[in-house]
Amino acid sequence: MKTAIVAGCRTPFVRSGTVFVDLTAIELGKVAVREALARSGLRGEDVDQLVYGTVVHDTQAPNIAREVGLAELPKTVPAVTVSRACSSSNQAIADGTALIELGQADVVVAGGAESLSHVPITVSDRLAKMLVEASRGRTLGARLAPFRRLRPKDLVPVTPAIAEYSTGETMGEAAERMAKENEISREHQDAWALRSHRLAAAATADGRIPAEVAPVYAPPDFETVVEHDNLIRTDTTLEALAKLRPVFDRKYGSVTAGNSSPLTDGASAVVLMSEERMHAEGIEPLGFVRSWAVTALDPRGQLLQGPAYAAPIALDRAGLSMKDIGLMEMHEAFSAQVLSNLQALSSRDFAQRELGRAEAVGHPDPERINVMGGSIAIGHPFGATGARITLTLLNEMGRRDVQFGLLTVCAAGGMGFAMVLERR
Ligand SMILES: CC(C)(COP(=O)(O)OP(=O)(O)OC[C@H]1O[C@@H](n2cnc3c(N)ncnc32)[C@H](O)[C@@H]1OP(=O)(O)O)[C@@H](O)C(=O)NCCC(=O)NCCS
Repeated sequence: MKTAIVAGCRTPFVRSGTVFVDLTAIELGKVAVREALARSGLRGEDVDQLVYGTVVHDTQAPNIAREVGLAELPKTVPAVTVSRACSSSNQAIADGTALIELGQADVVVAGGAESLSHVPITVSDRLAKMLVEASRGRTLGARLAPFRRLRPKDLVPVTPAIAEYSTGETMGEAAERMAKENEISREHQDAWALRSHRLAAAATADGRIPAEVAPVYAPPDFETVVEHDNLIRTDTTLEALAKLRPVFDRKYGSVTAGNSSPLTDGASAVVLMSEERMHAEGIEPLGFVRSWAVTALDPRGQLLQGPAYAAPIALDRAGLSMKDIGLMEMHEAFSAQVLSNLQALSSRDFAQRELGRAEAVGHPDPERINVMGGSIAIGHPFGATGARITLTLLNEMGRRDVQFGLLTVCAAGGMGFAMVLERR
């Protein structure tokens, strides 16, 4: 049973703390799911399952999928939240495809949302223990007693870090390490970032990006309509990028705010259908899922190198090689990560040493990679990026009449995701 992707959309992707500051990931996810379904021509009653991704979970509503589903779909549609770091909505699409291939669903809505404006801020471990102990006290004295141990630093709030739990290393530090180990120059990183902005600006100006974006009515008055991404810089230059100071290694580093993906709010969704049901409904597909693969490596190694491991496996599973791929989307966490992965894919030594393959995997000409810009320019709401690049790849494959497309995403924990999409 083949799985078709028949429609999709995303909200604008905006700098966190700006126009979506009063919207949670659930609110953003509702817009994306509602609009994706409307664009498919299907109704809520047609949906069998909702699979939705997020990374920074709301402690009050940990199953974001169910909350979005309760608001937008019949209450009888089961919903599950998936979390695989930055590839969460890719995983949602893969899980939806698996449900269809197993014959357990005909129509699945999949995607993801993230609000980095709304992160759960918690209390220190010591204060949490005192609060639990106090809640068990039967007298006023017993309830107050634990706080005698309170020190000023116990009151410091705890915010989520974009860091590896196992090693403590931030993504930015890992990108910096990769830049050094793979000898990716600052100039090369900045040039990739500039390209990302230029291509995203061009795709915005000619309507390709706006066609994928659903407007959002923003609180408090719900009269302000947010229709556009607000991170893409039409005016950035190599000179401006070169002036920025390294963030993660201030003395010897090369990773800056300009060649990193920014902290972003946004949501996305696509509608998946069994080929049979799609034909029965007379719906045209954007394309089909051909294969996917997920890999993991030791986070102490090259943390964001997952795509170079996952891509060849997804290609093998598709029965294809890189020369069959007409377009590629690679999530841009950092320029250093993109360039490190492209370097590894084109390296025979990497293929022999790391993949046990005789020849380099290869990659398409850069002219056919991230042709509408990438996460550095457009932004990266962790849980939403995967469905964004899936939709962009399919739309551009249609416009260019490309048969096979490949997408890759690096994810925290040393994981890599790759998916091959095809048209008929
Ligand atoms: C890198 C990071 C720390 C930068 O955060 P920040 O300092 O808030 O970034 P800003 O957007 O304010 O940019 C800093 C400065 O660079 C400038 N700048 C950023 N991009 C620029 C560009 N393309 N051209 C010109 N200037 C640029 C900004 O205008 C700003 O200048 P100002 O200080 O004069 O206002 C943050 O974006 C981050 O943590 N990114 C990584 C996220 C991550 O790890 N994701 C996971 C990946 S899987």
